[in-house]
This record gives sequence, C-alpha cells and structure tokens, in this order.
Amino acid sequence: MIQPLSRRECAKQFGAASASLGVVSQAIGLAKADETKPAILGGPAVRKKTERWTKWPIIAENDLRMITDVLKSGLWNRLSGPVTPRFEAAWANRLGAKHCLATANGTSALIIALAAMDIGPGDEVIVPPYTFAASVNAVLLHHALPVFADTDLNTFQIDCNSIAALIRAETAALMPVHLGGSVADMDHIMRIASEKKIKVIEDACQSPLAEWNGKAVSTIGDAGCFSFQASKNLNAGEGGAFLTNQSDLFEEARSFHNNGRAKPNSGVSGYGRNGANLRLTEFQSAILLAQMERLEKQSQTRESNAKYLTEQLQAIPGIMPARMYPGCTRNAYHLYMFRYNAEAFAGLSRESFLKALGAEGIPGSSGYSPLNKEHFLKVVTSNKGFLRIYGEKHLNDWYETNSHRPANDRICSDAVWFTQNMLLGPRSDMDQIAEAIRRIQKHAAAVARA
Ligand SMILES: Cc1ncc(COP(=O)(O)O)c(C=O)c1O
Repeated sequence: MIQPLSRRECAKQFGAASASLGVVSQAIGLAKADETKPAILGGPAVRKKTERWTKWPIIAENDLRMITDVLKSGLWNRLSGPVTPRFEAAWANRLGAKHCLATANGTSALIIALAAMDIGPGDEVIVPPYTFAASVNAVLLHHALPVFADTDLNTFQIDCNSIAALIRAETAALMPVHLGGSVADMDHIMRIASEKKIKVIEDACQSPLAEWNGKAVSTIGDAGCFSFQASKNLNAGEGGAFLTNQSDLFEEARSFHNNGRAKPNSGVSGYGRNGANLRLTEFQSAILLAQMERLEKQSQTRESNAKYLTEQLQAIPGIMPARMYPGCTRNAYHLYMFRYNAEAFAGLSRESFLKALGAEGIPGSSGYSPLNKEHFLKVVTSNKGFLRIYGEKHLNDWYETNSHRPANDRICSDAVWFTQNMLLGPRSDMDQIAEAIRRIQKHAAAVARA
C-alpha cells in the first residue's frame, strides 16, 4: 500500500526532483532559453522594478544655496539683480562666444534671433522637418514661411544636399537644428550661406557643449539658440539663451527681448523698436549657474556611455545607431537615437518592439512624427494675415510641396529614442539595454505573435 506523503516529505521530494530536473534541463540548454525569454512573453525582465534610471533633474546643495540667495535678496528680475549677467558671462565664456543673452525659453531665443535679423513677412527660412515644433513656430510667429529640407537617414540631421533646390530670392536664413545633441553638417551649411549670402541661425536647443571641429555649436553661424527647459541637459525648468559674435545683432536682440527699449548709445530714448518681454528671471539664472558646475562631468558620462552602447547596438542586425558627421567632434547626447528595421526582427512592428522593450524595464520612444504634415501648418493656409501676405495659391502650393519629404517620413516611422538621463548611470545600464534588444530579437517571431 502506498503511504501518503506528509507535507514536509512532499516538499523535500519534489524539491529534489525539480533541482535534478534543473540540472538536466540546463545540460540540454532549456533553462538558458527560459532565462532569455523576453519579459513580454513571461520571462524575467532584464531590469528589476527596483532598478531606477538616473532621476532628472539632479539637485545638489549649490542649487538650494544659490536660489535661496536670490530669494533673500529680493532682486528677482534681471533688470535689478546681478545673477543673470553672471550666467550670461559664464555661458558665453564656456562656449567661446562674444555675447550671450539669457531668454525666457528656447522658443523665445529663436524668435529673438529672427527679429534681430529683421526676418518677417515675405521671407522664407529653411528648416529641417525632424525637429520640435518651436523651430518652425518661431518663423511663423514673424509671418515668415518655413521651408522644409529633408532629413539625412544616417545622421537624423538636416539633409544639406536637399537645401540648394529650396533657395529662392525670398530665402532669408537657414536654420539647422543640432538634433538630439549631435551636430548638423555645419561646413556644408556655412558654404551655402556664404555663397547665397543668407544668415544662419543654429537651433542648438538640444545640444549644449556639442562641438563642430572643436568649436561650440551656436558660435559657428550668425547666431545660436539654446533651451533650458526641464528635459534639457542644462535645465532650469524653463529658460533659453541667444548667442552671437556680432555686436550689432546682440544689441538688436537685447532690445527686442526687453520690450524694444532703446539700445545704449543709439541716440534714441525710450523704445527704439518693437519687442516683447522675453527676459529670464534671476531664479532661473541661479539654477543654471549651479547646474553648469555639473554639466561637463555629466556630458562626459553621456558621451562615454553612448559610445559604449553604440559598439553593442551596431552589432545587432536591424539596429542602426545615428551616425555623426566627421566634423562633429563632440555630441551632447540629449537623445540616443537609432533606426529600427522590423525585417531583422521577424516583422515585429516598431510599436510592439517598444512595448517589449518597456516590459524589460527599458523605456524608449518613437520620437517625432513628420512636422511638415502637421495640422497647424494647414491652418496657416487659411490664416487671415498669411493670406494677405502670400495669397491663397502660394500658400496651398507651399503646403503641398512641403508635405513631401520622403526620407523624413521614413525616419519618423522607424526611429527609436532613449532620453539623456538614461546615459547618466553605470555601464551596466547600457549592457542591459543591449541585452534587452538581443532578447527581443531572438524571440521576435513569438513576440510578434503575442
Ligand atoms: C530643437 C528645439 N528647438 C526649440 C525648442 C524650444 O525650446 P523651449 O521649449 O525652451 O521653448 C526645443 C525644446 O524642446 C527644441 O528641442
């Protein structure tokens, strides 16, 4: 007769049995296969829930001290306090620029740049379609027309080869955007600008400390603009800066951002031009000065982690990390960007790939959608002011031609981004990102079916 086992005996016997099964299955490779099963299929996630990405922003003692000093001083506005001029001097000095004007945000820095160059109704500004809406809105707010170049599939930057065909008598400026922390092909851009005698405004909002042949971005064109919005590598919640080496341009910009107050020594008293209040507060300048102390070290960490990650990701079929132009001697890595080829992942869509990545504890995003096709641009074609300046036919043609940028469409449909704070942790974070992608690829067909 078979005696029933007690609970303890049962646990002992089955424990032993499952342990020996483990040895057997390990020998035939089953346990290994299970360990690499993607989390979305029930495997263990590459990152545990308790493992945290570096929290952004990073706050330290000096932020608290410097902001408290401003608070206690009662001098909260740049017209009365000393902190904003200190930040401006420090940022200009750090980048090797002659002038820096702190602004309310990056959008206003771009608006200021265009105003200082007297770009307005009837003018056209060449922009990339792979950028944040602000680059384009700044142009529209001056009742000028943005004209979209295409995007370079390898670097994610403006495709300079597509610019020449867009230049007309109305073209007043080129606005390359140094996207994701990398740098647009500035040699090519400056060559076109000097041949055609048009201005260059560098939208460097995502690229503080990035360099082109050793020169800081924002100091290569006629002017450059930064954003210090919350997600940016140098962050004050909101904030921005306009930089230039041209003193006339700087005085024009300073006047515009201060409600048009007359320039010093201009012989005009009161208001010398139109303008707006686009001034930065002393609180934000204090935070920027404090954060600046850590920016260099953080940038080095991002750069070294990004290089390490690229070495791993470029070995994975179907993952194409954004390349840099040879002139890009420093990348600020505001974003880590790559293109995803679903064919190398058994047809797994980018959206399902991102979902599977998320299940591993790796947050990724699909980035921008085509800006040149956004509804707000269609709205421009029925705007009263724009209709008066350009006429219906011209606006409809403008919308129609600008909505076709095939390389940009492609990049918008296959890009994947990681945010800058994910590059601030240990190297093991990069190993985990690569491991998660390898796992998903190995089981891609099953993930696609799930
Ligand atoms: C490329 C680019 N241009 C302009 C801006 C506008 O900056 P802000 O948000 O500070 O106005 C941003 C901000 O996200 C940006 O990424």
